[in-house]
Amino acid sequence: MKFTTPAGQNPIDQGKVVGKPHDRIDGKFKTTGTAPYAYERHDVVANPAYGYIVHAAIAKGRIGAMHLAEAKAAPGVITIVTAAEAGKLTKGDFNTAMLLGGPEIQHYHQAIAIVVAETFEQARAAANLVRVDYERGKGRFDLDEALKTAPLKGADSGEGSKAPPVDRVGDFEGAFAKAAVKLDARYTTPDHSHAMMEPHASLARWDGDKLTVWTSNQMIAWGKGDVAKTLGIPKENVRLISPYVGGGFGGKLFVRTDAIMAALGARAAGRPVKVALARPMMFNNTTHRPATTQRIRIGTDRSGKITAIAHESGSGDLPGGGPETAVSQTKLLYAGANRMTSMRLAVLDLPEGNAMRAPGEAPGLMALEIAMDEMAEKLGMDPIAFRIANDTQVDPEKPERRFSQRQLIKALQDGAKAFGWDKRNAKPAQVRDGKWLIGMGVAAGFRNNMNMKSGAKVSIDRKGIVTVYTDMTDIGTGSYTIIAQTAAEMMGVDMDRVVVRLGDSDSPVSSGSGGQWGANSSTAGVYAACVKLREAVAQKLGFNSGDVEFADGKVRSGNRSVALAEAAGDAGLTAEDTIDYGDLAKTYQQSTFAGHFVEVGVDMYTGEVRIRRMLAVCAAGRILNPKSARSQVIGAMTMGVGSALMEELAVDKRFGFFVNHDLAQYEVPVHADIPYQEVIFLEETDPTTSPMKAKGVGELGLCGVGAAIANAAYNATGIRIRDYPVTLDKMLDKMPPVA
Ligand code: MOS
Repeated sequence: MKFTTPAGQNPIDQGKVVGKPHDRIDGKFKTTGTAPYAYERHDVVANPAYGYIVHAAIAKGRIGAMHLAEAKAAPGVITIVTAAEAGKLTKGDFNTAMLLGGPEIQHYHQAIAIVVAETFEQARAAANLVRVDYERGKGRFDLDEALKTAPLKGADSGEGSKAPPVDRVGDFEGAFAKAAVKLDARYTTPDHSHAMMEPHASLARWDGDKLTVWTSNQMIAWGKGDVAKTLGIPKENVRLISPYVGGGFGGKLFVRTDAIMAALGARAAGRPVKVALARPMMFNNTTHRPATTQRIRIGTDRSGKITAIAHESGSGDLPGGGPETAVSQTKLLYAGANRMTSMRLAVLDLPEGNAMRAPGEAPGLMALEIAMDEMAEKLGMDPIAFRIANDTQVDPEKPERRFSQRQLIKALQDGAKAFGWDKRNAKPAQVRDGKWLIGMGVAAGFRNNMNMKSGAKVSIDRKGIVTVYTDMTDIGTGSYTIIAQTAAEMMGVDMDRVVVRLGDSDSPVSSGSGGQWGANSSTAGVYAACVKLREAVAQKLGFNSGDVEFADGKVRSGNRSVALAEAAGDAGLTAEDTIDYGDLAKTYQQSTFAGHFVEVGVDMYTGEVRIRRMLAVCAAGRILNPKSARSQVIGAMTMGVGSALMEELAVDKRFGFFVNHDLAQYEVPVHADIPYQEVIFLEETDPTTSPMKAKGVGELGLCGVGAAIANAAYNATGIRIRDYPVTLDKMLDKMPPVA
């Protein structure tokens, strides 16, 4: 189905199942430990060997020699594979460094060998006996230093966030020089780690020259292609299976070394091999969100209208990598005739930077929305009023493009009311509750919507059970559930009559999960397949497909009514289709909007910032399942708390690695850190996005949260922290006097 004109009325608008809160189908499996993750597929492989990866202990240089004899002779060892034994490997399309290094080393903890043994413990013990002689090279690990000479570089994050090297509209410098009120400030965000619960893990089995990899991955088709390319085998010979994923956040958009090393280990061992990255290896072996340094300049007239706005971002990555697209939201969020955005990319020899939840907008808004708060204060305006004064209903760079829907003003206004914004004291450091200084902060949330081609196959069997097959993944987001809701709505059956099969590369290629495109795109693919299946049913029954109703497990036309099971017959009925998109996303700017509100308490004595309340008001098209969407937003807000107050990969600039490489040292928020969170969804359907009229919402829940917290901490204390995370060491010496 080609989607080229805005959607009209269709069966999804009935809203009998879609749009209703529904428990996650996979919830009971996950909470009872019965959802099989890649490392636990005892059902598919009876007696796997265990792989343990040896990781490089230098960040840059070469391996002089590897001494394997002792490890090979260790108890239980079956084989060891290094680059020397692996045969020719090619870098995949989606990764920057080789997934098996050697002799050249591109980053710290790059995989350099897999030791395969009878048990996990034997593999690990033997891996510790591998001796490596390194020739350490000189690496570049200091972002500030490297940015001094870094060139301009444009990029597309691959997740909807993009910008050219420099973009100019009007005359920024001239307008900024003349502005009545102006801000010129520098902000930094540190490197972040996805730190998802389930580590990267794979189980590989060869059947002749056919390879099956059970893995933990967001994008099955990308992964299948990259496994084939890396190993130099035909794509048809690779099958990827990933029905349950314990979190990804972008860290599993691409296959990583676990999949490749499991395949190489299994081939060498002549036996299935499973591999999981140990937690301390994840932070340096896999990808991370790159640190940024951002300069923002805003100029306004006396009334608070933006006349000039510039956002410049610098970040680093390995040779061949890309910049963090932190300026992308600044191109679209606020009006202003004179604009400039630019990005610089420094070459660093730290581990590979890549997409992490809402790449671009997440760190970009952490800076931009503090800058907006600072400007509002300079103008003596309420920060909500300042944002509303600079709203735009068209793409400010290309005014002929309207936003398909843009409810930022309503999100901010409704949020202000629900949150009790009128109780905020605009003057900082005025409100106390015992030893706590209390502050409120607000930020706009913005994240682009992307639509991705997505396919599905849907069948009805003789019992009337509807089964959906697609290579879509559920990374904890609720894909199983919203796909079942879509099929139930379309075929007129109850949810318990729908079976959803996800994450198998033998199924039709879907959008996959990334960039908050999964929900709208994958359900639209299921919609397309269901439209075909409805036609097949009508045709088989000799019904006029223009006037058929699917409801209560029956197909009706005029006064004829046939049970779906009967219509399917013994042979069943199957249809397959793909939703494919025309130019609507070019004609209209499709974005999602939020108002993020936070109340914090800052300990007067220690400077410790604690969250007291959070609210997100989201406008993101049709909400397919308010329960799972709410969970997505709450999870994202939680990640926002991490990025504001805790998360920071500490860079060892001498040796080029992230020092805090486990969950004891890389801190993320827990339940006790956030006593109260609420989410409000604004009424919205967006007919330009798909027949589902939905948009992404998961990443929107993160975008802006960090700044709302930093702004709340400022309101509480009068201390403006522009370098994340907002930790007490940055507050302590500036705290207001206690007596
Ligand atoms: Mo994307 S960073 O996988 O949501």
